[in-house]
Amino acid sequence: IPIVLALLVAAYLLGSIPTALWVGRRFFGLDIREHGSGNAGATNTFRVLGKKPGSVVMAIDVLKGWAATMMATVMLNQGAIRPDQLLYFQLACGVLAVIGHIYPVFAQFRGGKGVATVLGMMLAIAPATVGVCILVFLVMLMLFRYVSLASMSAGVAFALLQLIAVLLPDSTGMDAFRPDNPLLLYFGFILAALLIYTHRANIGRLRAGNESRVPLFGRK
Ligand code: G3P
Repeated sequence: IPIVLALLVAAYLLGSIPTALWVGRRFFGLDIREHGSGNAGATNTFRVLGKKPGSVVMAIDVLKGWAATMMATVMLNQGAIRPDQLLYFQLACGVLAVIGHIYPVFAQFRGGKGVATVLGMMLAIAPATVGVCILVFLVMLMLFRYVSLASMSAGVAFALLQLIAVLLPDSTGMDAFRPDNPLLLYFGFILAALLIYTHRANIGRLRAGNESRVPLFGRK
């Protein structure tokens, strides 16, 4: 039990590392939350500070979710949990990292929206499904050029893809997306709802028509 508890706390603390805030402060002397969309995430780092810092923040934020989820594997290898409990602890560690990212103890609980950290978490749990979601993200981004809309679409796609795979019979090509545990199916919807919740300000801007678009192919 102590190692399980220690790793659950570690997952939250890992997620709490406010990458965008620290990169902005350390290398640019600014609080990213006072610029652009005001979000301490990879998208706003790209927007305000550029490609290189944006990529670094994105990579670290994805890694946080992935590494936190891997703590469940450590619990298993240490004999602290049973193999049939692995998914439960993967989800617990992953979600704690995502909560840490959104409400970081190291940044007055004002963090990001959880997209990169959810991505890292789910890469460790359901990589095939995540692969399709990344495609959905890219297609939505190319079509509409709103990162927020693309992120929410990818989150909803994750939940729907699993649901469709559960409803369709075998040999329809959906087997790779079918979760073996219904808990993962429910979690897909919970995470999609969480992403919609963290993007509530973006939804307001999308509706008002003043959400910022990413420049694409050199156009503004
Ligand atoms: O990374 C979160 C993204 O979906 C939206 O970020 O800065 O445009 O609110 P932002």
